[in-house]
Amino acid sequence: MRHPHRDVVVIGYGIVGALACWRAAAAGQTVTCLDPEPGTGATYAAAGMLAAVTEADFGEPDLLRLNLHSARRWPDFAAAIERTAGTGIGYHRCGVLTVGYERADHDQLQRLAQLQQHSGLAVTPVTTEEARAREPMLGPRGIGGYWVPADGQVDPRRLMQALKIITDDHGVRVVRRSAAQLMDDHDGRVVGVVDEIGDEHPVDRVVVAAGYASGPLLAAHPRFQVPVRPVKGELIRLDGGLPGWSPESRIIRGFVQQRPIYVVFRAADDRTGGQEVVIGATSQEWADDRQVTAGAVFALLRDARALLPGIDEFAIKETTTRARPATPDNLPILGRSGIPGLVIATGHYRNGILLAAATAEALDLIFAGRELPDVWKPADPRRFHDQPSDHDQLGKSEGAPWVTTSR
Ligand code: GLY
Repeated sequence: MRHPHRDVVVIGYGIVGALACWRAAAAGQTVTCLDPEPGTGATYAAAGMLAAVTEADFGEPDLLRLNLHSARRWPDFAAAIERTAGTGIGYHRCGVLTVGYERADHDQLQRLAQLQQHSGLAVTPVTTEEARAREPMLGPRGIGGYWVPADGQVDPRRLMQALKIITDDHGVRVVRRSAAQLMDDHDGRVVGVVDEIGDEHPVDRVVVAAGYASGPLLAAHPRFQVPVRPVKGELIRLDGGLPGWSPESRIIRGFVQQRPIYVVFRAADDRTGGQEVVIGATSQEWADDRQVTAGAVFALLRDARALLPGIDEFAIKETTTRARPATPDNLPILGRSGIPGLVIATGHYRNGILLAAATAEALDLIFAGRELPDVWKPADPRRFHDQPSDHDQLGKSEGAPWVTTSR
């Protein structure tokens, strides 16, 4: 069957796909979205940390610039979503407290703080006593680290509910099917998508926002591929509501014997009350199964309670795992592909929620036919096509160059 012509088809309805649907529709385009299980991918697992400063790491200056660019846009972005949807999304610029468990963990926090300070970011050392004043649950082994005032959080599930209200209001048609392949015309322009049951969706523009599934989908395309791979993350959600305990949104990030751990305390929305506590996250290359392992639950609880022993009192609400869409340089793959009609918006890896604000802005520019600002240049989808891959240089022409022995 051939569906009536629409302006845009978006493949994927996670945070990035939902934003693409919204911004295309807001630009006056008719939009279809293909996703067999909307909103149930990486976005569903996300803890919702907006931690551009705290999560800055060595060797990622372009990503840091992009993350900070997005963090600056979050207050207006959150306000626009809440206003348009008429519902809250749990956005709080609550800051992040970093703490260590052993001296070596504190040293690790110090090295990161030096990097952050050299980048001009506000990071204040806190003594253990000050850390305890900020975080009453901090256990006897916790060592004060740093206070990062600019970082914050949002509730990714409420964010997605709000975006669903908005895209429904804009008449976005979400079809619960996966995309099987792209349709090309004789000039090599992408002119639509064939879905899993063989239906054709003819459009002027296709936006591929299918997370790590974007790689396999585009693998069949003769002229454009994206090196995006799954990196599995497991998280635990606790019910942090205790009698007489007033909920407060806050974030603790730290190292326990050199292993990173974060704990997001989230005052639940007015309707449900209470407090959700999200502990994350594991990281496993090239895994996309949805099994939460006993080892992961053990490791997350072991490290979280090493810093915050009081979490022992909380009930386990949920364990979740999903795969993040990762790229060879940890940067997203976002922009025009160079193939007429094909836009790529994937590879947001650990930063899908944080980068949402900048991604919405970039999509606006793409739909308006304008250039992206310089901060997005390192994320250009064509960066993996303009130079020979290692495999080509080695004289091997078969196989995807990003498939490494780490699989
Ligand atoms: N940004 C947190 C994570 O990927 O676990």
